Amino acid sequence: MGTRGSTRTRNHNPGLAGGGAGGGGRYHRPPVPNLRPPKGTDDVLPPESRTWRQVLRAWDDWSERFGYELVMTPLFEATDLFERGVGESTEVVRKQMYTFEDRGGRSVTLRPEGTASVVRAYLNAGIQGEWKGAYSGPMFRYERPQGGRRRQFWQTGVEHLGTERPTADAEVIELGYRFLVDLGVPGVEVQINSLGDAVDRPAYVAELTAYLEARRDQLCADSIETMAVNPLRVLDCKTCAPILGDAPTPDQHLGTEAAEAYEEVKARLAAADVPFVEAPRLVRGLDYYTRTAFEYVGGELDIAQVALGGGGRYDGLAEEIGGRRVPGVGLAMGIDRIIVALGEAIPAAALDGFVVTVAGRNAESAGLVSQLRRAGLRVDAADPERSVKSQFKAADRSGAPTTIVVGDEWDEGLVRTKRMADGTETDIEIQELAAWLS
Ligand code: HAM
Repeated sequence: MGTRGSTRTRNHNPGLAGGGAGGGGRYHRPPVPNLRPPKGTDDVLPPESRTWRQVLRAWDDWSERFGYELVMTPLFEATDLFERGVGESTEVVRKQMYTFEDRGGRSVTLRPEGTASVVRAYLNAGIQGEWKGAYSGPMFRYERPQGGRRRQFWQTGVEHLGTERPTADAEVIELGYRFLVDLGVPGVEVQINSLGDAVDRPAYVAELTAYLEARRDQLCADSIETMAVNPLRVLDCKTCAPILGDAPTPDQHLGTEAAEAYEEVKARLAAADVPFVEAPRLVRGLDYYTRTAFEYVGGELDIAQVALGGGGRYDGLAEEIGGRRVPGVGLAMGIDRIIVALGEAIPAAALDGFVVTVAGRNAESAGLVSQLRRAGLRVDAADPERSVKSQFKAADRSGAPTTIVVGDEWDEGLVRTKRMADGTETDIEIQELAAWLS
């Protein structure tokens, strides 16, 4: 659905479309104001926005069911928060942040992700102990735009702070899985790994670096660059994968506690009927992860945009950003990608009913619309001054499954209803209408 150009306006090409290029520049065309959204951003309009509403509602529902309360943090933060939190060696911090100086001379950055901000907010509020927060909103990364990879994109996420229990990891993983399955994303797969504790990391990184150095002349240029700043990320390189088949992986280098925790996460997932596959090369793109790391893949996505969401445990992040030690685990789902993964499914109607008004029945019609809305139904009406024929066209366009005609039957306490799918007409008592529609 995300690819339907008519409803989601993208900044594809510079504005010569239909103009000078094809005509060899012979015709003078008046300058057309550029009304496209900035590169890598989208306007989301109906009907595609219907799917967005459904997806975001499902997110609110699932995150509430799992006990996460809403948390809201600013769309921009001091740049330092992300440099320290997300990590200076990451692609996100090195190449993708929207960073600028504000009028007061402070360096600020549009948030590229939500976790660092939520941990900052938890610390700032002086909260102690366990705490669960859910968020939903736009994030910003200067990426090379393509379908499902945007410069402004929407994440929904949760963070569970103040606990090291592996049960929390399994619960977070289950939440993302239930959300995707409920939406109907085809072929959802949960991939998990353990990256071990910070204390186990140096020995492993040294072994991996030696392994990579021995194959330096076979690595792609990107991997050679990545190796210098974050050797783990090389494991993630699709180009180099064939020559790295026997590379040492983090899960083989876990300390005792991290290994036990990983076993428990897997046992908890099995107990909650969450299918998963172990992905020893899964390393994630942000620096703060310790122990559990996971991603969701699925849908009809190409390799560049496979992860529909991901997350993991980050027991050192709070200290990295200047706070006390607060363990945590969380996830973020990429809503733009999930919309793409849902494919061309027709979104459900945005309305339950659409009202058409016969001349002289405006007051009755307006009262009925109000009454139905107050009864909890989603109802809209055409301009009653227009002909019934043109009102029916509007009813058709609205996608509502039922049209309600307010006409002379009103005097007998009735309205005429029409089921749009097959044209069946039925007279319904006005008092019964709300119940009948729902
Ligand atoms: P992330 O893997 O960087 O993790 O992003 C999570 C998801 O956001 C990705 O799996 C993807 O679906 C989506 N995403 C990322 N970049 C883009 C983009 N440019 N365009 C469209 N979608 C995108 C995080 O951000 C962590 N904060 C997740 C987390 C929460 N870890 C612990 N708690």
